[in-house]
Amino acid sequence: MGGLGCDGQVWRSGRARGAPWRAFLCGSNPWDLASFLVMPQSLALISDLHANLLALDAVLADVERRGIDQVVCLGDVATLGPKPNEVIARLVELGCPCIMGNHDAFMLDPDLIHSYTEAPVVVDAVQWCRQRLGQAELDFLASFSSTLRLELDGVGVYLYHGTPSSHMTELLAVTPPEQLDAELGDVDALVYAGGHTHLQMLRQHRGKWVVNPGSVGMPFEQSVSGTAPVILPHAEYASIWVEEGRPTVMLHRLPLSPQALYDQANLAPDNPITSSLLACYG
Ligand SMILES: [Fe+2]
Repeated sequence: MGGLGCDGQVWRSGRARGAPWRAFLCGSNPWDLASFLVMPQSLALISDLHANLLALDAVLADVERRGIDQVVCLGDVATLGPKPNEVIARLVELGCPCIMGNHDAFMLDPDLIHSYTEAPVVVDAVQWCRQRLGQAELDFLASFSSTLRLELDGVGVYLYHGTPSSHMTELLAVTPPEQLDAELGDVDALVYAGGHTHLQMLRQHRGKWVVNPGSVGMPFEQSVSGTAPVILPHAEYASIWVEEGRPTVMLHRLPLSPQALYDQANLAPDNPITSSLLACYG
């Protein structure tokens, strides 16, 4: 297949933008016009949505306004925030490829969270979310890929949640280069991108770019290392653009109304994490 490595996940929603000569084949029947998609030249990376519909809708509106070709979600979609069902419904509607985060895996394997944290507020909030998901929503989460490699007009992009081999391991600006070598492996790509830390990052590493788009729904002020985070009242994402073989990466920050975030959190007063969210937004 030319142009795009689907890595076991169907590329479902290439938008029909751009000139027809950028069309490429992504199907088994070369004469099936439905199997032609348009090679994306721009990509929005959204991650760590954490059931914040207000923030997700702000990001999707900005993606649309900028005319970005495609969206990929890097995981952690439904837990902690007040709108798990609505955020999943929005992703289903969007039809974008999704990578499995640790919090998505917690929905599918209830015991797994205990290998990550024993903080009662987090454990209980994850349980609160699981109780609200139906089988169709769990099946949707189970469809997420662990990694995805794709090409933007010839530029390789490799996507994951924490690292290519772990949705719980953090890659930070201060991660030693030798550890970064081991974590990233030798996949042929110029851009490596994952979320998980809730901290935006654009790091040059041995000629490659290591990107973290930050968090759509729960951006942190700084690395938390097991302590309670300060959640910032904005939404974060990243975009990658390739024009005539020249790649550009941008980190976006969209200010949100603290009052609107407060009001949204207050819609789920029985969510065990709500008081913490209100304290951040209030
Ligand atoms: Fe997360």
